[in-house]
Amino acid sequence: MNSIRLSLGPFQGITDASFRNVFKRHFGGIDKFYTPFFTGIHKDNHAKNLQGEEIDPSCNDVETLTPQILSSDAEEVLRFAKQCKQLGYKEINLNMGCPFPRVANKKRGCGLLPFPDKVEAMFGRVFEQIDIGFSVKCRLGYSSPDEIDAIVPIFNRFPLSELVVHPRIGKQMYKGHADVERFKSLIPCVNAPLVYNGDIVSVESFEKIRATVDGRRFDRLDDPRPINQFMLGRGVLANPFLAEEIRADALECEAFDVVNAPERAERLHAYVLDLYQDRLRHAGGSPKVLGRMKELWSYLMFSFDEPQAVWRRIKKTNALKEYEEAVEWVFQTREFRSPQVPLSPSESAECRQ
Ligand SMILES: Cc1cc2nc3c(=O)[nH]c(=O)nc-3n(C[C@H](O)[C@H](O)[C@H](O)COP(=O)(O)O)c2cc1C
Repeated sequence: MNSIRLSLGPFQGITDASFRNVFKRHFGGIDKFYTPFFTGIHKDNHAKNLQGEEIDPSCNDVETLTPQILSSDAEEVLRFAKQCKQLGYKEINLNMGCPFPRVANKKRGCGLLPFPDKVEAMFGRVFEQIDIGFSVKCRLGYSSPDEIDAIVPIFNRFPLSELVVHPRIGKQMYKGHADVERFKSLIPCVNAPLVYNGDIVSVESFEKIRATVDGRRFDRLDDPRPINQFMLGRGVLANPFLAEEIRADALECEAFDVVNAPERAERLHAYVLDLYQDRLRHAGGSPKVLGRMKELWSYLMFSFDEPQAVWRRIKKTNALKEYEEAVEWVFQTREFRSPQVPLSPSESAECRQ
């Protein structure tokens, strides 16, 4: 149990460099981060989007951050890998999970999963040249959870540094539930280090999933490894203490101090203000930062009683001062719900409409 590794999944529009750095200043428990996906790596060494803070090693920890790419073009993946390696990164991650039709229809993201031949050709070319770790994050399929059965043997032909599986299908988007049993059925079939992702929103849900996917139950004598790597997602956006809670529970000690509700509210308040100030600094004071802060609040609202009231108040703000007042209103008038965030994934999706 002591050896569990927790990562935070990427969220386009939320977990940018500013978020990752501020989060690390305020909370512990996460071993590894991923950038939201990059696309359009057009040139060797000069891709414009690989020159900013999102990837600059002076703003990021190259030891614990894995840059992610969304692509179905081996040459583009190789350009990305080369540039990431030059910047000092140890691994890149290929996004084979993005479910949005405009992505999937172009056979990118989870739109690649129904095309094992295409994946094989692409990986064959990538592995001819790549000299940096190459990991994959995928779903069970785009329109059927059986698509993964034809893809896993292809993944097994290549030395992936890691395979993260979010056991939903693309057509589900983020609705319904992650199919933990289906993930469990993959464990004996996958060669790469396997990481579970999906619907970990509390210590209880973590414990339940961990017990279900415990690889030691499979009696595979040549490979009795337990699944000890978990990627957290919306659970951390809603309750940033989640990784600390999981570790405190797993280690059964106070390595991470799980503090009382008023202290937590204070820590949460400091984090939200720090993130806002950091983003404002980077955006030169532009009210554009409100979009990203609102995205985060669409999850963070679940840390408070009456989350809908919190969301309504934050959502309607258009000016910086209005937003600042709304945040103070939340922390002064709403009860902080601790320690569990009763977030159900579909509840979150509905609230964000
Ligand atoms: C708004 C939003 C943006 C996301 N952006 C990315 C992304 O850039 N790359 C990626 O691999 N997954 C992305 N995801 C998926 C999450 O990383 C994660 O796999 C998913 O939320 C399931 O985990 P969870 O149930 O613990 O939240 C995104 C999800 C949402 C809701």
